[in-house]
Amino acid sequence: MNKRRMLWPWVLVLLFFTAALYFGGCTEIPEPKTPSYETDLAADENRNEAFSRQFPLHYQSYLNNADDTRMTTYAGSVPHDKHDTINPLPKGYRFGQPYLKNLWMGYPFSYEYKRARGHVYAIEDILEIDRINNYSEQAGLPATCWNCKANTMPQWQKQYGDDFWSMEFHDFRTEVDVEDHAVGCNLCHDPQTMDLRITSVPFAEAMARQGIDWEDATRNEMRAYVCGQCHVEYYFQEAAFGPKDKVTFPWDEGFTPGDMYEYYKDKGTTTREGFEGNFIDWTHAVSDTPMLKAQHPEFETWIDGPHGAAGVSCADCHMPYIRVDGKRKISSHHWTSPLKTIEQSCRQCHTDKQPEYLEERVLYTQKRTWEQLLKAQEDSVRAHEAIRLASGFTGERHPDYDALMIRARERARKGQWFWDFVSAENSAGFHNPVKALETLARSQSYSSEAVRLATAATNHAIGKHLEGDIYELVPPIMEHSRKLQQSQEHLNSHTWLGYLPLLPEAERVWDGQKKIGER
Ligand code: HEC
Ligand code: HEC
Ligand code: HEC
Ligand code: HEC
Repeated sequence: MNKRRMLWPWVLVLLFFTAALYFGGCTEIPEPKTPSYETDLAADENRNEAFSRQFPLHYQSYLNNADDTRMTTYAGSVPHDKHDTINPLPKGYRFGQPYLKNLWMGYPFSYEYKRARGHVYAIEDILEIDRINNYSEQAGLPATCWNCKANTMPQWQKQYGDDFWSMEFHDFRTEVDVEDHAVGCNLCHDPQTMDLRITSVPFAEAMARQGIDWEDATRNEMRAYVCGQCHVEYYFQEAAFGPKDKVTFPWDEGFTPGDMYEYYKDKGTTTREGFEGNFIDWTHAVSDTPMLKAQHPEFETWIDGPHGAAGVSCADCHMPYIRVDGKRKISSHHWTSPLKTIEQSCRQCHTDKQPEYLEERVLYTQKRTWEQLLKAQEDSVRAHEAIRLASGFTGERHPDYDALMIRARERARKGQWFWDFVSAENSAGFHNPVKALETLARSQSYSSEAVRLATAATNHAIGKHLEGDIYELVPPIMEHSRKLQQSQEHLNSHTWLGYLPLLPEAERVWDGQKKIGER
């Protein structure tokens, strides 16, 4: 065999790779930018409809958020009650968690909590939800809530600055157009150039505290940051720490539920023994435990998951390029489950995989996450029940009863926080399978410790009562609302409801944007 002839092709290959390395290494590949436009819109334009003339295809895509009533196995767009696993859609759905009302006893979340649907409904839904008090002139919630619903936020921020947050929610009720001001164009785009931008003050500030200026972010980062304005965990700041009720993101220690639990330890003014300085969202009515409530931490879950770590942004999956109008390609503005668009959402990268395979992998993760989510939820209920029984225990108490009860409550608080972090996240584990399962494992272990500590406080006397099927020990509370809490009969219908105060009888004051009563 002629050795020289065999060598030649290899020399060529080597030359090719050296050249590729050389050019590849020295040429800066410019980061692609969102196409820049020159619109004739005002810099402070905030009506979605105003964008429709220049961007009819995007506007149409945005409007598609309104017509979608498709469910997927674990998610989807029909806003059913998330605790109702018995009734069919649209009231309930088989993948719900029966104990939500029990776990949020004493907090408005226990009145009503529904699955999210498309952005176009953001205002309609917040005006309707029973968490905001529609039975009185005062909502009982600050204006803060508008931050993630209304396109008027930039304008209100300019007008009121940090005074805005603690203003009364109802005062802004009629200031918005239900359709035209629902989560839209101006919150993510500069109306005059359509460049991506951040309008959420809390997001910008939380990033700045990490040393990140969003104005220096790459396009790819912006494709996730714009969603991180709202799809995150947050809390309402206490007055001792800055503007009262300001939306604040608890990210200073990191993005895990453990980091946030540490963060919350010194962000409150409670003087309660064992919880001094803790931030608390509410005190659980049945177990008298100072609690935290998690809110949809999609951004924090995604960020260190397989896709987030690899730089795959929210928009890659949730805003895939779609062909509209027969020819043009645009970023889809129909934000929904990517399982409805696997071909466009996933196969741009996973070209070697079939759609059925990809869906099966998502379901593989979701099924296992869901099973552990249900277990963690049940363990949390058992923790509250154990503390309830131990609090009312009149037999001989352990010499360290008080200290044990403080520790039991702290574990119950932590266990439920870890459960809620995954429960409130909307991907049923897909955004970060390892983090979801680790968080749920920790949740179960903290809640079990709470049961052990409360039991020990009674010298194990309540141990026997706590064994057995949790569904028999503490039946799920299926019906509860602000209206029902005005009825003593309702409060008598379940041991746990008996811990709630009877609300004065009242008729609705607000129906959507209409004032239909006085009080
Ligand atoms: C790799 C693709 C991918 C990325 C990246 C991604 N998601 Fe998702 N997302 C999914 C999938 C898959 C689901 C599960 C949908 C289902 O079960 O039907 C989901 C679910 C959701 C849901 C619930 C959807 C529903 O129907 O209720 C929300 C909200 C969401 N993601 C927001 C985000 C945000 C915000 C980011 C970025 C911080 C993000 N996602 C990043 C793929 C992705
Ligand atoms: C939640 C954030 C968000 C909202 C709200 C939003 N967009 Fe976008 N938009 C994006 C993202 C992300 C991209 C992709 C940008 C990129 O890849 O650089 C985009 C891209 C675009 C583009 C560039 C072309 C393209 O298709 O990629 C136009 C034009 C546009 N949007 C118009 C609109 C209009 C009109 C509205 C209101 C009806 C709107 N957007 C609402 C996030 C948003
Ligand atoms: C200004 C706040 C805000 C921003 C920014 C935002 N969202 Fe949302 N998103 C919401 C609210 C509020 C809802 C629930 C609306 C409802 O149920 O009425 C929602 C719902 C959703 C849903 C559920 C839709 C369904 O079909 O069930 C998805 C998916 C979603 N958002 C993805 C995204 C992605 C991806 C981005 C970034 C490109 C983003 N969102 C940016 C506030 C926001
Ligand atoms: C922009 C590119 C991109 C898109 C879009 C994308 N992926 Fe991925 N996917 C990746 C990368 C990168 C990884 C990390 C593994 C790797 O490095 O190969 C990954 C990993 C995965 C994994 C393995 C995760 C694990 O737990 O280890 C699954 C499953 C997956 N993707 C499913 C999906 C699905 C489903 C969608 C659509 C909803 C999707 N991907 C969209 C790039 C992408």
